[in-house]
Amino acid sequence: MTEDEYQFIAKDEEIEEGKGRPYVMGDHRIALVRYEGALYALDDLCPHADASLAFGPVKEGCLICPWHYAEFDLKTGEVMSGPSPRGIRTYELKVEEGDILIKLAK
Ligand code: FES
Repeated sequence: MTEDEYQFIAKDEEIEEGKGRPYVMGDHRIALVRYEGALYALDDLCPHADASLAFGPVKEGCLICPWHYAEFDLKTGEVMSGPSPRGIRTYELKVEEGDILIKLAK
C-alpha cells in the first residue's frame, strides 16, 4: 500500500455531525471532521503550539483550535484568523460502503 492509494481510516458512522476525531496513519496525525453532512480530513496538529485540532469546535466552515482559537478553513486548511503562523494540510477522502478512505499523498 502506498500513500498514492486510498486506504481505510474509519467507519463513516464514527464521525458525528459538527465534531472531529483524531486518527494516526503511520507518520500522519489526521483530524476527521463532519460539517453539514460532508467529511473533511486535515492535519490534526495546530502549527501554533501542537494542540490536537480534532478536539476543537467546528463553526461556519472552520475547524477552531481548542487552545488559542486559530481558525482553519475545512476545505483548504487555510488559516482564517488567530495565532497560527500557517495553514494546515487537507487530504482527499471518499466513502465506500460505509468505510472512509483517505489518500495520504499530496
Ligand atoms: S495551539 Fe492552536 S492556536 Fe495555539
